[in-house]
Amino acid sequence: MNPIKFVHLTDTHMNAPHTEGPFVKFNLADKVSQVFAHIQQNRVNPSFVVITGDLSHEGNTEDYEYIRELVDEGSSLLGIPVYVVLGNHDHRAPFREGFLKEEPSEQPYYYSHTIQGLRLIGLNSQTPGHHYGRIDNEQLAWLEEELSTPAERGTIIALHHPLLTIESMPAEHVLADREQLGQVLAGTDVVGIVAGHVHTNNVGTYNGICSIAANGTAFTGELADDDHFSMVDYCSYNVVSVNPEGVSVQTVVMPGGRDEYLRFPLAMLAAQH
Ligand SMILES: [Fe+2]
Ligand SMILES: [Fe+2]
Repeated sequence: MNPIKFVHLTDTHMNAPHTEGPFVKFNLADKVSQVFAHIQQNRVNPSFVVITGDLSHEGNTEDYEYIRELVDEGSSLLGIPVYVVLGNHDHRAPFREGFLKEEPSEQPYYYSHTIQGLRLIGLNSQTPGHHYGRIDNEQLAWLEEELSTPAERGTIIALHHPLLTIESMPAEHVLADREQLGQVLAGTDVVGIVAGHVHTNNVGTYNGICSIAANGTAFTGELADDDHFSMVDYCSYNVVSVNPEGVSVQTVVMPGGRDEYLRFPLAMLAAQH
């Protein structure tokens, strides 16, 4: 059985052009277009792309209209679906209006799609008004029901807040109710979890499930010194392969420099990601 490959992007922090915001001048949306072009030019041939949240930095309806156009362009360039989930910088009502072209509402956004036998479940860990992430009880119950039937090639869970603790990051970056989610995933066909939020590559296992956080597409986060954190213009994407034997992750580094976008005290970390 051939592996199924997909591309994992995260934390694109895009803004519509000509809007206000600290990152507008960096043209972060251009980086996403460059990644789509790179995937095509390098014949990566993924079956789909998933972007695990912080789609926008400001999260206005205008931003989501723009992001939708950009995502549609990438989807048609590659000839594959592009799926998204929400992060703490995203806002549900403007997302529903601008991206999904639906009536604005505060309903959480989650779904299940099966692509060539591999099931992708996108969860909504974004919690309005908070930096931390949770999966609400209704969503957990839906997930349990969904996972009660295995998929042919297993399941990948996509969400914004990671399950693994990352050294140098405050503990609140981890999904607040990861134990509850872990209980729902135990004994199911879930083979991998893809997340973001920490803007740094981190791959390990959570209760035996491959758990991946990726570098931010917009910027990578690094400790600058003992007291400061730095956002660096360093862009990569992960190619995740799901094989019968397990999951592998390849990080593809995009051409470019390592300029520092912003440096700020560690105490302000929660406000920036
Ligand atoms: Fe985030
Ligand atoms: Fe982020």
